[in-house]
Amino acid sequence: MQIVHSIFELRQQVAAWRRADERIALVPTMGNLHAGHLDLVHAARAEAERRVVSIFVNPTQFGPLEDFDNYPRTLVEDSRELERAEVDLLFAPSVSEVYPRGLGSLTQVEVPNLSRTLCGLFRPGHFEGVALVVTKLLNMVQPDVAVFGEKDRQQLMVIRRLVDDLNMPVKILGVATKRHLDGLAMSSRNAYLSPPERAVAPTLYGMIKVVAERLQTGDRNFHTMQEAAKAALEEAGFRVDYFEVRRAEDLGEPAANDTELLVLAAARLGGARLIDNCLVTLPGHD
Ligand code: PAF
Repeated sequence: MQIVHSIFELRQQVAAWRRADERIALVPTMGNLHAGHLDLVHAARAEAERRVVSIFVNPTQFGPLEDFDNYPRTLVEDSRELERAEVDLLFAPSVSEVYPRGLGSLTQVEVPNLSRTLCGLFRPGHFEGVALVVTKLLNMVQPDVAVFGEKDRQQLMVIRRLVDDLNMPVKILGVATKRHLDGLAMSSRNAYLSPPERAVAPTLYGMIKVVAERLQTGDRNFHTMQEAAKAALEEAGFRVDYFEVRRAEDLGEPAANDTELLVLAAARLGGARLIDNCLVTLPGHD
């Protein structure tokens, strides 16, 4: 596996693969890799002859009071995992390589509506930072396919929309969330949980499943279900940012006859902010 830090070297290698008519898949990450990331790499394997993984802790998607400085950086361990997973190239640029003019007055990539709800309300500027860095990474690598996890459902929707709106010639592949045996979604931020918090953490997905099952059985009292789930989570020790049932198509408010719904939640537990979601497909009425 090659490890490159500059866009110049990255482009040289990608150009050589293109000349050989090889398809390229990109898995963008912020590193501190776990089995969920490796699932993304495996999904990339089925899509393309060449696999590129980027590791870049992107400052523009962190708010001023968020964990940018403390975000776990484990490049040596990560590169060993990627080597084992038969990745062809690890792209690990510095902040100045990605943002050579600094972080002030950057070109903006904004996906309105989708970016301004749910996590966008609690993390102002987050999805603008994600949209900008993903646009940059897609332009740097120019992959045929880019792979993202469904745990970050809203992020995946923002990226699909921006790629579509900007006519970027890349397929966006979403991969199912990898979970621990107790249901907790794998996430680098789980490392912030103390052992007692780790024991409580699966309750987040537990409550999402409770609501998903109620939707399956025909309950459409969205507000009541949301409030009950929030109360149960607060009781268990979470500070809930949101717990919402939304339309899967566009994250709009759900209606009783919608057939694809998402249950999405974000909650803080100790020093960690956890997010998770579940897609619910319901039978339509003809
Ligand atoms: O999901 C992530 O790890 C990041 O938000 C991403 C897509 C790599 C952009 O920095």
